[in-house]
Amino acid sequence: MASQKHLKGPDVYARTFAADEKSLLAIAARLEARAKHSFFQQVVGDYLGALALGGNESVLDLGCGTGAIARMIASRDDRIGRVTAIDISPYLVETGKRLASEEGLADKITFLTGDAHSIDELQSQFDVLIMHTLVSHVVDPSTVLQEARRLLHPDGRIVVFDGDFESLTYATDAPDGGAETDRLQAIAGHTQGRVMRLMPRLLSDNGFRLEWSKAYVAADIGRSDFWSSTLPALRVLLPSAGVMSEREASDYVDKLESASLKNTFFASCNFYTMIARGIHTG
Ligand SMILES: C[S@@+](CC[C@H](N)C(=O)[O-])C[C@H]1O[C@@H](n2cnc3c(N)ncnc32)[C@H](O)[C@@H]1O
Repeated sequence: MASQKHLKGPDVYARTFAADEKSLLAIAARLEARAKHSFFQQVVGDYLGALALGGNESVLDLGCGTGAIARMIASRDDRIGRVTAIDISPYLVETGKRLASEEGLADKITFLTGDAHSIDELQSQFDVLIMHTLVSHVVDPSTVLQEARRLLHPDGRIVVFDGDFESLTYATDAPDGGAETDRLQAIAGHTQGRVMRLMPRLLSDNGFRLEWSKAYVAADIGRSDFWSSTLPALRVLLPSAGVMSEREASDYVDKLESASLKNTFFASCNFYTMIARGIHTG
C-alpha cells in the first residue's frame, strides 16, 4: 500500500511529517502569506463560486497545512456545514488549530492528522473534498484519488488545485538563465511536477467525471509580488532539501530580491483547478 513514508525525493513539503522546526516554521509562514495574496484569494473564490455551495455541505480540506483554506471556507457568513482539515504534519495541524482558535473558528473546523493515501477512520462522509496544492507532493496521486473517492459521498465533488511545476521558473543572471536552479527548485519543492497535465486522465481512471476547470498563470514581471513570500522560505528550504548549501541558497535569493528592487525580476508558473464529481457505480 502506498504511503507518504515511501517518499524517495527531497521535496520538503512532502516530508513535513519528519521535518525540523526551522523548516516547518518557514513552510507555515509561506503557506499563510500566499493564502492572503489576491491570487490565491481569487483562485479559492473561483472554485467556491463554481461549486455553488448551499452553506450546509460537509467539506474536507485534505493536505490542509496550516488550514488556511479550511479557515477561509469556515469563516464565510453562509457556512453552517462542517469543515474537516487533515494534514500529515502534526506540527502544521497544531498550528492550524491555534490559528483557527485565534480567529474564533475553533468550533467550526475539526483538525486531524493523517496520510492522504489512507485515512482509515473516515468513510463516505463528505460532499466536497479540496486538495489545494496537495497532489503535487504525494507519493502516489492515483491512490490519493481513490481514497478521496472513498471519503466522498458517491456523487460528491473533488476540487484539485495545483501548480504545473515543470513550468515554474525564476530567471537569473546565470549563463543558463536559471535553468539549473529551476531544476533544483522543482525537486526541492515538488514530487509530482507534471501531475496536473495528467489529472483529467487520473480523475477518469479513479471514478470521477470532470465538470469544470480553470487555468492561471502566476507571473511576476519586474517586481516580485505573489512569489515574494517564497523567497525567504527558499533560504531555509533549499538547504533543508539538500539541493543547495546555506551560502548558495542565500546568494540565489539575494540576487532574486535584488532583481526585484531593480525591476528586472521574472518568475512564473502555471496553475490549474479541476472540479470533478464521483461517478455512481451501483
Ligand atoms: C504546499 S502545502 C499546501 C497546504 C495547504 N493546502 C495550503 O494550500 O495552504 C502541501 C501540504 O500537503 C501536506 N502533505 C504532503 N503529503 C501529504 C499526505 N500524504 N497526506 C496528507 N498531507 C500531506 C504537507 O504537510 C503540506 O501541509
